[in-house]
Amino acid sequence: MQGKHIVLGITGSIAAYKACTLIRLLVKAGAEVQVVITPSGKQFITPLTLATLSRNAVVSEFFDRNDGSWHSHVDLGVWADLMLIAPASASTIGKMAHAIADNILLTTYLSMRAPVFVAPAMDLDMYKHPSTQANIERLRSFGNHIIEPAEGELASSLVGKGRMEEPEAIFEYIAQYFSSNESTSDSSFSDAVSCASSDVSLSDVSFSSPMSGSRKKVLITAGPTHERIDPVRFLGNHSTGKMGFALAESCARQGWEVELVTGPVHLSSDHPLIRRTDVESAIQMHEAAIRIFPDCDVAILCAAVADFMPKQAETTKIKRETTGEWSMTLVPTPDIARELGRLKRSDQLLVGFALETNDEQKNAHEKLQRKNLDFIVLNSLRDKGAGFGGDTNKITIIDADGTEQPYPLQSKHAAADEIIRHLCKKLS
Ligand code: PMT
Repeated sequence: MQGKHIVLGITGSIAAYKACTLIRLLVKAGAEVQVVITPSGKQFITPLTLATLSRNAVVSEFFDRNDGSWHSHVDLGVWADLMLIAPASASTIGKMAHAIADNILLTTYLSMRAPVFVAPAMDLDMYKHPSTQANIERLRSFGNHIIEPAEGELASSLVGKGRMEEPEAIFEYIAQYFSSNESTSDSSFSDAVSCASSDVSLSDVSFSSPMSGSRKKVLITAGPTHERIDPVRFLGNHSTGKMGFALAESCARQGWEVELVTGPVHLSSDHPLIRRTDVESAIQMHEAAIRIFPDCDVAILCAAVADFMPKQAETTKIKRETTGEWSMTLVPTPDIARELGRLKRSDQLLVGFALETNDEQKNAHEKLQRKNLDFIVLNSLRDKGAGFGGDTNKITIIDADGTEQPYPLQSKHAAADEIIRHLCKKLS
C-alpha cells in the first residue's frame, strides 16, 4: 500500500460516513488518497472533513469556482493505481454501467486506467431490484471488482442486504489486491480472475462441446445433502449453497461452462452458462458428479455432503406413539471427492473444501492428501462470519505442496473470486 495512489469516489449515501475510516486506514498504510465526490455525496459528508483526513483537497467540480482552474479527471485516470468507489449508490452504479458522465466522479471513472473497485450501498429492495442487479453484473463484465454489500440493519430500519461492506474489510480487499499484484504482473488481479476467453459470446456456448480451447468446463457441487430417514424426516446440515453458487457465478463470469450439482437450497441461478442439476442425497450427488466429471476440466467440491446415511429409510412415517425409543443404523455415504480424486486425469484439476471445527490445518492437509486434491479451501466454524449460512467467509487456500494462503473475512462472492483466481494460476 505504501506510496500507492488511490482515487476514492464517494457518492450520495448514508454510508458516506464510513469513508472517513477508510481514508484513515489507507493513509495510515502509506497510500496517497485523492477524494472525488458527487454533488449528492456532499449532502452526506463535508469536503472539509474528507480533505483533512486525506490531506488533499477534495475534487467535486470540473473547475474551481474561485479561480476557474480545471480539475482534470483525465490526469486522475493516469495518476491512480486504483480507484475505489465507496459508497457506490444505485444511481452512480447505473450511470457507470451506461457511461452517463454528468459529474466529475463519473468522468474520472470513464477515464480510469487503473482497476476499479465498487462497494455498493443502498436499501435492500433497491439492491435486489433487477435493474440494479443487471447494472452490477454489467460493471462486473467490464472487469470492475464488486465488493458485495453485507446483510444487516439498514438506515431505513429494514434488515437485509445492502449495507456497504465495513471499511476494515474493504481495506483488506484492497491490500490483498496490491499484495497479489506485487508477486505477479500489474493487471494480474483482473486478468487472473478473467483468465478464460472473455470474448465468449453467450449465445455461442454449447454445453455439448466441452473442453474446447481456453473455455473451461467446471463441475461444482453445492449445498447440503438430505439423507432420508422416512418420508418426512432427513439427516441434513446447515449449508445454504451460497458459497457454491458464488463459485458457479464467478466461473460463469469468466465465460466458463458450469455444471452446478446442488443439494436442496433456496437459491436460484439464472446465468446462461450455469447448468443446474438438483439432487437430494449423497448417493444422487455422487451419481451426478461421476457422470459429469469426465467431461470437465475442473471440479470444485463445495457441497456439505452428509458423511452418513440411514442404512434403510422407512417407507412410512415413524410414529412417536407406537415406536417409542428407537435407534437407527447409519452407514457411510460415498466419498465423492475421494472417488473423483481416484478418477482424475492428468489434464483435470480437483479442488475440495474442508469445513473444520478444530485442528483445522492438520485436518485440511490430511483431506488434501487423502482425496488427491490439487488444492483445498479451508474454512473454520471457529472464525466468526465463516462457514455456513452467512454472506461472508474466511478461507485459507492450501496447495498440494503444503503452502498456505490465508485470506481476510470477505463476502462469499469475493472469496469465490479469490478461489477462481488461484485456480487460474494452476490452469496456466
Ligand atoms: O453453503 P454455505 O451455507 O454457503 O456454506 C458453505 C460451506 C461451509 C458448506 C462450504 O464453504 C464448505 O466448507 N463446504 C465443504 C463442507 C464439507 O463437507 O467439508 P468436509 O471437510 O466434511 O469435506 C471435505 C471435502 O470432501 C469437501 O470438498 C466435501 O464436498 C467433500 N465430501 C465430503 C463427504 C462426502 N461424502 N463426499 C465429499 O465429496
